[in-house]
Amino acid sequence: MSHFKYFKKKLFIENTSVLNIAKKIKTPFYLYSGKQIEKNYINFAKIFKHVNPLICFAAKANTNLTIMRMLGKLGSGADVVSGGELLKALKAGIKPSKIVFSGVGKTEDELKLAIKNEILLINVESESEAILINKIGKKINKIISIGFRINPNVDAKTHKKISTGKAENKFGISITNFSSFYKSIEQYKYLKINAVSVHIGSQILSDTPYKKTLDVLSKVINDLNIKLKYVDLGGGFGIKYNKKDKLANLNNYAKLVSDFKKKLNCDIIFEPGRSLVGDTGILVSKIQYIKKGLRKNFIIIDAGMNDFMRTALYDVSHDIVPVIKTDKKSQNSVEFVGPICETTCKFVQYKKYQKIKEGDFVAITNAGAYGSSLSSNYNTKPLIAEVLTSKNNLKIIRKKQDLLKLINS
Ligand code: LLP
Repeated sequence: MSHFKYFKKKLFIENTSVLNIAKKIKTPFYLYSGKQIEKNYINFAKIFKHVNPLICFAAKANTNLTIMRMLGKLGSGADVVSGGELLKALKAGIKPSKIVFSGVGKTEDELKLAIKNEILLINVESESEAILINKIGKKINKIISIGFRINPNVDAKTHKKISTGKAENKFGISITNFSSFYKSIEQYKYLKINAVSVHIGSQILSDTPYKKTLDVLSKVINDLNIKLKYVDLGGGFGIKYNKKDKLANLNNYAKLVSDFKKKLNCDIIFEPGRSLVGDTGILVSKIQYIKKGLRKNFIIIDAGMNDFMRTALYDVSHDIVPVIKTDKKSQNSVEFVGPICETTCKFVQYKKYQKIKEGDFVAITNAGAYGSSLSSNYNTKPLIAEVLTSKNNLKIIRKKQDLLKLINS
């Protein structure tokens, strides 16, 4: 998180002290660094420059319109998984020719929306979906460009709740079923298979699963002798949540993809989400109460699992850092928890933490991806504000939801 740094023991985002922001804006709120978003996008494009891919930001990682617009301006397309995300991508100014649509359960209305807007690819995940698209195409007498999402049966070696590429996962279609569908494609006059796609999981920290996936794809494409315009290799690139996380060697992978592209003579699409925005945001929160327990002290902060679900959903930990550092350590172990009435509304535990008190500010780190986008109104809590630093200006990019509006439904 290079645009989040301590200077004289105060946490800074770019050139602004987080304390000063927290004194102005009511906590909890998400705080993003515009510079970091830009840096991540440019860095990703640089690693894969020989591949010259179409980078389609996976909108589900962060659907804030301003952030999507920023990425769009940098050249990004979008990978969307619902009609809502598709409309947001368009509203963010992303051209339909840079939008791909994935998901196992697209409804007829969502498919019609995608077709009406002439997006680049609908990544189909079942035979039934392909048949429905063919039916829609027939009605409007239009040939529709689709990709087929393959399930390569590759273990991404990541958390099991975010693995998507194994046979037991619901995503994509097996090689056997894809092959038999492809052989009967003549029947479906309104479908044009322009691509195959894969996405084997998220927070992947090794390049081995990627390599295996390329091998599986090469084989099926060669065996069926398909001429494709695109191969969409999905997202999944991990980030460093903790010091011990080691990242995959993307330079090696870029070389393999470049060879793969040359052999197949097609264009490559990537769908990165977390790697573009994960380290660009923190969740700033205030310590509401400190409660002494028998075994540990509970630090109750004003952000809850409704604001930030990752720790409750995936049993992962995100470091929580003080906005002002001190040298004094407390003696007891502490657990940071939130206000929601669920045992899993807890964030991280430390054997020792610096001395802190009620009213102090802290920040949940690496909260830019799957933070705000996964948040909810559980316990009738309003969605919190989102703030962006951009060219040394602070911008509220989403206002805190109005509680009065919330209670009327
Ligand atoms: N493409 C498809 C088809 C996807 O389903 C996803 C993520 C991505 C791309 C982007 O993956 P990324 O580059 O961000 O890893 N909520 C979970 C992550 C769920 C990912 C779902 N699909 C978490 O917080 O870890």
